[in-house]
Amino acid sequence: MSEWLQCIANKHRFPIDEIRYTCDHDGDLLEVERDHLIDRNSFDDRSTSHAPIDQSGVWRFREGVLNVDRAITHPEGGTRLYERNGIFFKHEGENPTGSFKDRGMTVAVTQAVRLKATAVACASTGNTSSSLAAYAAQAGLKAIVFVPAGKISSGKLAQTLAYGATCLAIRGDFDAAMRLVREACARFNIYLVNSINPFRIEGQKTIVWEILQDLQWDAPDWIVVPAGNLGNTSAFGKALREAHKRGWIARVPRLASIQACGANPFYRSFSEGFATRHTVTAETIATAIRIGDPVSHDKAVAAIRDTNGIVEEVTDDELMSAKRTIDGMGIGCEPASATTLAGVQKLRAKGVMKDGERIVCVLTGHILKDPEANFRAEKVLEIDATLDAVEQRLMGS
Ligand code: F0G
Repeated sequence: MSEWLQCIANKHRFPIDEIRYTCDHDGDLLEVERDHLIDRNSFDDRSTSHAPIDQSGVWRFREGVLNVDRAITHPEGGTRLYERNGIFFKHEGENPTGSFKDRGMTVAVTQAVRLKATAVACASTGNTSSSLAAYAAQAGLKAIVFVPAGKISSGKLAQTLAYGATCLAIRGDFDAAMRLVREACARFNIYLVNSINPFRIEGQKTIVWEILQDLQWDAPDWIVVPAGNLGNTSAFGKALREAHKRGWIARVPRLASIQACGANPFYRSFSEGFATRHTVTAETIATAIRIGDPVSHDKAVAAIRDTNGIVEEVTDDELMSAKRTIDGMGIGCEPASATTLAGVQKLRAKGVMKDGERIVCVLTGHILKDPEANFRAEKVLEIDATLDAVEQRLMGS
């Protein structure tokens, strides 16, 4: 069984245990490739196993993720697929630290241990940092996180610190923190675990594989995902390519990647047939996708092309209204996740998504990520501690 790193452009191969994130040639991204056959039946058999490695919704698919002797696993994955009003919602906020990031992080931190790294780092607006901090704590590695100063929710910062990470608040936005962490990792010999790290992508593929398994390998028509740094869009494209090539599914669902209008570089590129790569100064209420210079752009272009996919944008008002719908169904999610439902509403109105098509929206993070966005002070009614006061408020007398 062999695995290697491969440049997405010139297909040059590097050993799987070499610490590198891009190809020397022109800085192109790398991905993990393998040449062994994988039978999907073993994935189904493991669903009833009690071994922690099989209970992980990532390592259950290990032949297609990473061949290791020991995994740093919580376990993660195994999230629920809800059906509401004819749409499926895969809730990745149900992962151990509250976001889909755990699926990539279990693989990246496992690889960090294999490479004998002593320190791991990432740039983050809160979810990646919490996930990294948790897995690094489990593995006994030093974790360093670069966050945009003043632009990370207090809950996610508290979670990151509680797991024991060193937190550097960068005076700048996420894109500045991302540039700095790449330079710092190269200079100070720290292992970088943002989604430019190809092992993160291998773990995140399992979101799609688990959806396919949830649907008994009967592929839906659409998979809809929020798009920020484009790690998920890239991972979903690779997951679908591999599932189809190996005969696990008969046909490939279409990917719909949804951006916020204020952070829409990928949407702009898509609108021009990907003729140019755009960057923007990002601003949106959805902090998780407040990203103007996505690192996985090139892989994401391939994902959209290979799946006959589409990129859409939604306004902050549209995504917040969709969030209230998802919250109101008793499921709930953070704002970026709600771009999915807002995107479906828009694409249905345009006739791109048709009645009767099976749609899966991936909710990437927990409702408590950006509590400021949930908290509406006017909904809280402060009263005296008397029954009269209760009656007055409830009966409106
Ligand atoms: N959804 C959530 C909840 C996220 O936390 C992120 C990224 C995304 C979507 C975007 O996914 O990059 O794969 O397109 N959060 C990063 C972080 C920025 O630091 O937690 P992508």
